Amino acid sequence: MISDGPQHSVSLGPILLDHPLVDASGTFDLLEYSRRYDGDYFADFPYAAYVPKTVTADARTGNPAPRVTETPSGMINAIGLENPGIHAWIDQLPEWASLRQPVIVSVGGNEPEQYAAVIAALEAHLAAAAAGTAPRIEGYELNVSCPNVSSGLQIGADPSATAEVVAACREATDRFLLAKLTPNVRDVTEAGAAALGAGADGLSLVNTFKAMVLDRQTLKPFLGNRTGGLCGPAIKPIALRMVAEVAQAFPDTPIVGMGGVMTGLDALEFIACGATAVAVGAANFTAFEAPSRILQELRDELEARGFASVAEARGMALRA
Ligand SMILES: Cc1cc2nc3c(=O)[nH]c(=O)nc-3n(C[C@H](O)[C@H](O)[C@H](O)COP(=O)(O)O)c2cc1C
Repeated sequence: MISDGPQHSVSLGPILLDHPLVDASGTFDLLEYSRRYDGDYFADFPYAAYVPKTVTADARTGNPAPRVTETPSGMINAIGLENPGIHAWIDQLPEWASLRQPVIVSVGGNEPEQYAAVIAALEAHLAAAAAGTAPRIEGYELNVSCPNVSSGLQIGADPSATAEVVAACREATDRFLLAKLTPNVRDVTEAGAAALGAGADGLSLVNTFKAMVLDRQTLKPFLGNRTGGLCGPAIKPIALRMVAEVAQAFPDTPIVGMGGVMTGLDALEFIACGATAVAVGAANFTAFEAPSRILQELRDELEARGFASVAEARGMALRA
């Protein structure tokens, strides 16, 4: 039977997604899920694209424990970008080769050359890889929340440092390039303008909010890193405001919105604020079924509200 329900597919720049939901970097491990799934997880993958945890040029061990804890309506983490480094990371690509959906690789570093080195290594690998040995890597998401080597500030909090990272990466690839903005700034459109001016094709936002929790017995910082990044429902209203500001400032730009999406209606709110696609982060820690539940709820919400397509709902909140 031909469905006359809403059109769920969206175009994130040149990347065609079956529906708007992707995972937020660092919150969803494809291989871990496939091991826990009773069936072929690659065939039943619930997200429209896979965004893996941020990978850096060299291996990183991350921050001292404890690295994560629950907070009122959210969670805080200070993982510290633990990852095996791009070369060991590339070695696992054959394990993902049967993934049908596109992959958007999240890239980190402390200076522009480190970001570009990750992309260059991956591009060289893809150029040489035999067919069927790598997934469909179609884009990059630059995680500019890492501290800058020279200033110690988050790269994403400094528009010119953001532009330098984007420009170096733009030289290294022709694939779709997203800059993931930090919310730890006064005006998120400044870094957005810098990233787009330097060659980014789209923007992701938000990353986590710098925050602190105390051990309530000792009244000392709880996390090994003292501070961490807050996410989950607690940040959703701020994230919605920031996505709306960016969508209004750059109306034709592909935007991946995120921050506290726990339900399909939350995802629809990000679309109404101008997001092209929506990433699910903290919700992945609540239940194995969270991604498929949120997707079904989004479909139901679109249908119940009479939208013919996801695109029709996009930007609703911005229109007079
Ligand atoms: C445990 C954890 C690890 C994360 N690791 C990364 C990361 O490696 N790279 C990145 O860009 N964002 C990372 N994030 C941030 C998320 O991708 C997302 O931007 C943020 O959590 C907001 O979405 P949420 O409220 O739905 O979780 C991480 C978040 C959590 C909770």
